Amino acid sequence: MLVLGIETSCDETAAAVVKNGHTVLSSCVSSSVHLHQRFGGIVPEIASRFHLEYIIPVTTAALKEAKASFSDIDLIAVTHTPGLVGSLLVGVSFAKALSLGLAAPLLGVNHIHAHLFSPFLNKKRLTFPFIGLVVSGGHTSIALVRGVESIRIIGRTRDDAAGEAFDKVAKIMELPYPGGPVIDTLARTVKDSPFHFNCAQFEDSFDFSFSGIKTDVLYTWQKLKTRTRKTKAQIACAFQQEAVNTIVRKSIAACRYYNIKTLCVGGGVTCNSLLRERLIEEGGKQGITVLPAEKRFCIDNAAMIAGLGYHLYKKGRRSDYTLSACATR
Ligand code: KG4
Ligand code: ZN
Repeated sequence: MLVLGIETSCDETAAAVVKNGHTVLSSCVSSSVHLHQRFGGIVPEIASRFHLEYIIPVTTAALKEAKASFSDIDLIAVTHTPGLVGSLLVGVSFAKALSLGLAAPLLGVNHIHAHLFSPFLNKKRLTFPFIGLVVSGGHTSIALVRGVESIRIIGRTRDDAAGEAFDKVAKIMELPYPGGPVIDTLARTVKDSPFHFNCAQFEDSFDFSFSGIKTDVLYTWQKLKTRTRKTKAQIACAFQQEAVNTIVRKSIAACRYYNIKTLCVGGGVTCNSLLRERLIEEGGKQGITVLPAEKRFCIDNAAMIAGLGYHLYKKGRRSDYTLSACATR
């Protein structure tokens, strides 16, 4: 069964063809990030207009790469929630039109749920139960997953998302957007740091908070008399260490609390080299298998939408043409 996935929830216009829920035949992503860079963050209107322009060429490229044609597609799976509503609407409207034109079934997929299952792309099958961690520019969630239809969010951020904190810390230090990869690279240029930052911990909860640490970085930065590349790197290193340690501690604590031995991780921030290393290291100590998504499936992509779409379809899920975009869910 060939599923065409469509993803337009934020600044990536993506299309993918996935066979039987796992085998990724193509995954094409076109990002408008370069258009947002000078604003230091995503401008929703620019993102929507970019999706409109690129959705057809990206979909055509995905079909070509998969050596498939529109008539080979058995299901159209599209992100319909959560995200920027104008951006989501482009993908949803496009998917509906395709579904109608091709007489192929349509299915709306939750973007965060798709990130949770992204580690199973190009694997043979799904395994349950697992704890899922999604850390990206828009979300920071821990979920207890017992099946494709049994997903319970047990922890979330109470303010900024993890990626948003990376982006804002970079902005404070006048580093380019998106800040995550820049901080990751910069932090690696120093061995340790004289700076120290703390994240709120909320004992007895799997929730996160990243706004305090961001403000802490801001005040530290404002008080600095000299701002060299080295001080930037030391701040990046101390911030990253605390953010990563907090994410690792919470995720492993969730696995231990529910006595679950598999931790699936996805979302843009899981491209972070320290986070990947530390999750595997700590998981190993506790007998927990950590399954990180391939880096190309950590960032927003449509293969994860097609993948989860397939498994939901097999459970009997369908959408009709009343499917709409929803910013929050
Ligand atoms: O999943 P994604 O592509 O989009 C959202 O759904 O938000 O994630 C983008 C986020 C950005 O905030 C970016 O700074 C962050 O992921 N990111 C990273 C790294 N690569 C991307 N954060 C930390 N370290 C990285 N290497
Ligand atoms: Zn995402």
